[in-house]
Amino acid sequence: MSVHTILKMGDPRLLRQAQPVEQFDTPELHALIADMFDTMHAADGAGLAAPQIGVDLQLVIFGFRQNQRYPDAPAVPETVLINPVLTPLGEEMEEGWEGCLSVPGMRGVVSRWTRLKYSGFDQFGNVIEREVDGFHARVVQHECDHLDGILYPMRITDFRRFGFTEILFPDMDPNADD
Ligand code: NI
Repeated sequence: MSVHTILKMGDPRLLRQAQPVEQFDTPELHALIADMFDTMHAADGAGLAAPQIGVDLQLVIFGFRQNQRYPDAPAVPETVLINPVLTPLGEEMEEGWEGCLSVPGMRGVVSRWTRLKYSGFDQFGNVIEREVDGFHARVVQHECDHLDGILYPMRITDFRRFGFTEILFPDMDPNADD
């Protein structure tokens, strides 16, 4: 297990359409996921997508009980989601602040579907299907966007609400964001 370097915005590997995972429950897949959790936890992230460490696969992880980067966010179950499909439930969207480990030190307001269904597989090939809302739904949409080569700044519509975390949220623990 090891902590990987997280690619930063501007790296063309973050802009690829990721490839589907075809083999589950392999030593390579388990090792990759262990490394992703190590990397996410080392950065205190709420989620991480494989393309962020340069791996061109449709694989995301997310979840936390308490997160310094998002101190007000409710807990999200620790999840491995492979080859995901997202389906919005209803038309409602909501705005919220997002950051990204590939865009360090910044936050912006992004509009996301309020409720959605997501499906896919875990690392063993078991089907995952959930209906979620709120921050859980936001995290899933953010992470799965990485699999389509989309970083959250590409979804910002009002750049007056985009800036440096230390300026926007001066009370936040400075170690909670880099
Ligand atoms: Ni991100």
